Amino acid sequence: MKPISIGLLGLGTVGTGVVKIISNHQDKLMHQVGCPVEIKKILVKDLVKERDVTIPSDMLTISSDDIIYDPEIDVVIEVIGGVEETRKLLLQALNNKKHVVTANKDLMAVYGPELLSVASRNGCDLFYEASVAGGIPILRGLTDGLASDRITKMMGIVNGTTNYILTKMCKEKLSYTEALKRAQELGFAESDPTADVGGLDAARKMAILATLGFSMTIDLDDVKVLGITEVSDEDLAFSQKLGYTVKLIGLAQRCKEDKVEVSVEPTLLPIDHPLAMVNDEYNAVYVYGEAVGETMFYGPGAGSLPTATAVVSDLVAVMKNMRLGVNGSSAVLPQFEKRLKTAEE
Ligand code: HSE
Repeated sequence: MKPISIGLLGLGTVGTGVVKIISNHQDKLMHQVGCPVEIKKILVKDLVKERDVTIPSDMLTISSDDIIYDPEIDVVIEVIGGVEETRKLLLQALNNKKHVVTANKDLMAVYGPELLSVASRNGCDLFYEASVAGGIPILRGLTDGLASDRITKMMGIVNGTTNYILTKMCKEKLSYTEALKRAQELGFAESDPTADVGGLDAARKMAILATLGFSMTIDLDDVKVLGITEVSDEDLAFSQKLGYTVKLIGLAQRCKEDKVEVSVEPTLLPIDHPLAMVNDEYNAVYVYGEAVGETMFYGPGAGSLPTATAVVSDLVAVMKNMRLGVNGSSAVLPQFEKRLKTAEE
């Protein structure tokens, strides 16, 4: 049976997790899709770097062309991050009829409509579950599980790094700098953590969630953002004394005239609030639906294996579509088409 062939762009924290899951869960993948899955090529910056997975040297390349233009590669998995260069790479991949799985929220929050449209035009899938809340299947929760409901509000912790920092500052009295350093060592933070601590990473995720949840145009520029850099030890100690804790909360809600407001800001929560109990790198998103009522999605929001789980589950979705011959058919949701048209006008 011909294996599904993968080209992996990037072998950092998440890429390493993807290699491990594909190698360790072959039986499960085989059971899900009915054929073996193999990684053919991996794009890296450094061919000789020591890594915590064993990779045959002929599998590594420093040229993206070895993946994008290889006719045998069916699916490109992108975990290198970055926006402009990565957008070009993924457009090339889609135009070469490769299905794409990405964990890149920076890219999807800005160029999602364009990439989804190009994917659809080429009959390709483009999935991006790992772009929001790491291992929590929140995008499928919104677009499949709650597809029939009218979402009224979403409230959540969607950045693992800042939640880790705030947890360590509150519970272990670590300094901000020390907690950030640990988050970086554990691989939760972005390579430039400014986007984490400044709230932009959470804003990108809230823009994606709000676009999918409310089926309407939500641009990143429409999200009000305040990060945690101004939160001091004294603020945290004082709030604890009063029975509160501070969390970086993303909020998206329908307001009057069916408008939606989206924000990210440090927020005081009573210590018995369910979101106050979400600690370390864990994420949680409350989703309120008119019919379903209150639901909560909870799990690890960052880290190698949790994020890679979402990536490889997207890969399974692509492969199931390949088997059914329906790739690309559901790639562009109406709200993305609307965003695309607005951008083109
Ligand atoms: N830097 C991100 C976070 C990684 O801390 O949540 C996962 O998107």
